[in-house]
Amino acid sequence: MVEVKADEAPPAVSMDKIVELCKRRGFVFQSSEIYGGIGSTWDYGPLGVELKRNIKEAWWQDNVRVREDMVGLDAAILMNPRVWEASGHVESFTDPMVDCRECKQRFRADDVEGNRCPVCGGELTEARRFNLMFNTFMGPVEEEAALVYLRPETAQGIFVNFKNVQIATRKKLPFGIGQIGKAFRNEITPGNFIFRTREFEQMEIEYFVMPGTDEEWYERWIEDRRSWYLKYGIRPENLRLRPHAPEELAHYSKATTDIEYLFPMGWSELEGIANRTDFDIRRHMDYSGENMAYFDEATGESVIPYVIEPSGGVDRSFLAFLVDAYHEEIVRNEKRVVLRLHKALAPVKVAVLPLLRNRPEIVAKAKEIAAELRPVMTTMYDDTASIGRLYRRQDEIGTLWCVTVDVQTIEEDNQVTIRDRDTMEQIRVPVEEVRPLLVERLNA
Ligand code: GAP
Repeated sequence: MVEVKADEAPPAVSMDKIVELCKRRGFVFQSSEIYGGIGSTWDYGPLGVELKRNIKEAWWQDNVRVREDMVGLDAAILMNPRVWEASGHVESFTDPMVDCRECKQRFRADDVEGNRCPVCGGELTEARRFNLMFNTFMGPVEEEAALVYLRPETAQGIFVNFKNVQIATRKKLPFGIGQIGKAFRNEITPGNFIFRTREFEQMEIEYFVMPGTDEEWYERWIEDRRSWYLKYGIRPENLRLRPHAPEELAHYSKATTDIEYLFPMGWSELEGIANRTDFDIRRHMDYSGENMAYFDEATGESVIPYVIEPSGGVDRSFLAFLVDAYHEEIVRNEKRVVLRLHKALAPVKVAVLPLLRNRPEIVAKAKEIAAELRPVMTTMYDDTASIGRLYRRQDEIGTLWCVTVDVQTIEEDNQVTIRDRDTMEQIRVPVEEVRPLLVERLNA
């Protein structure tokens, strides 16, 4: 067994290191990079797409599938523009901004002090409100086409379907609807890698409750959602709750608490939990003329439900899980970079490696084992370097186990070595036991 001299509290990782690792190992690439990129959009590479899918799958499993009081939805991105009038986005989803009269750069008004441009010193315009929704046109002839918006949140797709879902599923209050999907905001100051972008994915829940029980459910959801991040390995000291001050509250909210994570640039919002009251349902009733009230069979009365909304970002969770998992350790006087991702999130579960790549029997056996593992877990085969290097490459992307085929496997015992990412312990196992053993460990 190898001696690990891991320092107990690894140094916080810089954003530059994360960005470099993401590009080099194929987690995240700049979008349209060969054309110089486009403002703050990112593409998820082969490892990134696996990690992202695993995060969404874990969220869906825990928040939708296993809960008796939850169902799912996948609403369209393009919606009737009246939705955004009713929701208040046309009127209120704005940031105040200023323009420099000299260099024409645009800033959020609250990011600059005084009336001078922070870049060139030129004079700034008065602050003007700038709507963050992206416009597009629906219909083949642009002049006659209808103005529609790319949704700035997935939530409204849930609100407008509240009655459809309730009637179709016969759910009784309290119950919730979960949705994962893309949202778009023309952010004035995107940045910090995938933290604030103009195209991103949300994981949102609208949880409908009886008026009067909303405050209790609000508290329960804050705790539930905090626990979810801890369950998947985020260290408790890197999470905190921040209730919003009254003047910060969004136009629909009675109370909001942010779950903040200690990102490389400091404490920032990972997810928000809001008590949206009956604002949205009432507004959609007013604007559409449809009755969306819930009929309570117990009392024989119609009620407008209150709504608790836990709203998280897939991309921000991705960044938080990566940052939290990143460790540098000294092992036998050498630096080891290891992503200690939770086993449910790790993009690759197992790598199969031949000890000698110039021995055809070893290579064939390793490929055979990899083929057997592939249908049950994400598996990688790699024979492009020496074994020490191959282990380091797998540690750096968070692969849970490395299975190594060596001379002994072929010539003596038909056994392979399984190395554990976290402890670096190695055990020898008969080839036929590899798959059942790893499946058992993965599901344990
Ligand atoms: N429906 C409520 C809502 O959208 P929000 O606080 O504006 O609330 C919820 O957004 C979550 O969506 C945030 O906590 C964040 O994780 C993610 N998010 C919001 N804007 C984002 C952006 N520009 N880039 C990446 N993620 C974003």
